[in-house]
This record gives sequence, structure tokens and C-alpha cells, in this order.
Amino acid sequence: MKKLIAGNWKMNGSLAANDALVRALVKGMEGDAGCSVAVCVPAPYLAQVQMLRAGSALELGAQDVSQHSEGAYTGEVSAAMLKEFGVRYTIVGHSERRQYHCETDALVAEKARAALAAGITPIVCVGETLAEREAGRTEEIVKRQLAAVIHANGHCISEIIVAYEPVWAIGTGKTATPGEAQQVHAVLRAQLKAATGHADRVHILYGGSMNAANAASLLAQPDIDGGLVGGASLKAADFLQIVRAAR
Ligand code: PGA
Repeated sequence: MKKLIAGNWKMNGSLAANDALVRALVKGMEGDAGCSVAVCVPAPYLAQVQMLRAGSALELGAQDVSQHSEGAYTGEVSAAMLKEFGVRYTIVGHSERRQYHCETDALVAEKARAALAAGITPIVCVGETLAEREAGRTEEIVKRQLAAVIHANGHCISEIIVAYEPVWAIGTGKTATPGEAQQVHAVLRAQLKAATGHADRVHILYGGSMNAANAASLLAQPDIDGGLVGGASLKAADFLQIVRAAR
């Protein structure tokens, strides 16, 4: 299966910076990138990035989506709106949204459902905090987070992407070792297999301080099918090096 490298720009960018970054990515991906590549950009930049990526293999992603389809939800963006801008993926349940916007497992599951209904692939983030890891609760936490999404999405579950992002590794420069990450990925793989009931392989990405130097060893693990890359996705050279490591 082709690996997927998805950049998560978070709340970074400007018209000028995006222009330079996306042009460099498109140029660097000429020919066969050998893996799928996407950038998840802030909503106001979707139109700009959609135009810049036109004709290339670079896919477009969003960072969040409303669980509602339309109506009086000031500030929200629906999956149908994202779809109109050529969005292929949307992150849901990123730990920053769980933490700063009080998103619950049930809400994340609803957001995944809304994305799937519009034909957008949700990248569902799960991951434990440092305190949870130290208390030996990693498996319990990630399984609970994923179970909510499985419960709400039933037979569509093979169409989601999962991203394991240990909260303590996000933006900290502290990466899970390939062995630590693989261990959790294997747990998630088993849970997904039991839920889908067949051999369909769901992509499970690793995220949390993935960079040009550590990507190859993480991506070499049997159950790591790609990366969700924050900081390093803002520099074209670093991001392209991660893409090359995923070939
Ligand atoms: P990071 O972020 O690569 O900067 O740690 C990853 C993420 O939050 O998706």
C-alpha cells in the first residue's frame, strides 16, 4: 500500500508564504512522488492552495470540519463546503482541538461521520498525554478514542485514516521511538481489523515531531503507513525529504 504523508500547517501561513511553499512542493514532487502527499491548510487558504496545486499530485486537506451539515452554526465550516474546494482529507480530533476546544470522543466521531458522508476522508487523531503514558494507560486511551469513531461509523470504518499522535510528542521535538510507535500502531491495527472484519487495510499515520532525520526509521515500521507532519511541513525541503523517505 502507498504511504501517505500529510502536512498539518496548523494556524500558520500567509498568501505569500503559501505561494512559495506550495510551488516548491509541486516542483519537488514532479514525476512520481511514490507515495500520496497532502497539505492540510487553514480554511481561508483552501481556494489559494487548490489553485496552486492544480495539475499536480499534491492533495488538499482541511484541519477540522463541522459535525452539522448547514445552518445557524456561526464560525463553522461544513464538509460540503470543503468538498467544493477540492478537499480530499480533513483532520478530525486533533489533540489541540480536543484540548483547547473541548472536543469529546463522541463529537470527533460525529465529525468523522460528516466528512465521510460528503466523500471526504477523515484523518482521525488519537493519542495519549504524558501523564496517561506514565500511568500505563496508553492502550486504554487510544482504544477508547478509536472505539467511539468505530461505533459511530460502522461499515464505513475502512474508509477512515487514523493518526497516532502521542500528545507529548507534538511540537516538542520529542518523538516516540520507532518501537514505541509501532507498538501502539499494532494495537490500533488489531482494533481496526476486528471492526472491519476483513482484510482491508486502513492507513495508520504517525504524528509528533516527525522530521527529515527521523522519518525513515519511523516509516520502516510494519504498521506505520505514513506521517502527519506539523512543524516540518512548513519547510519545503524538510517536507520533501519526508516524502522521499516514504517511497
Ligand atoms: P509536529 O505536529 O510535527 O509539529 O509535532 C504534528 C501534529 O500535530 O499533527
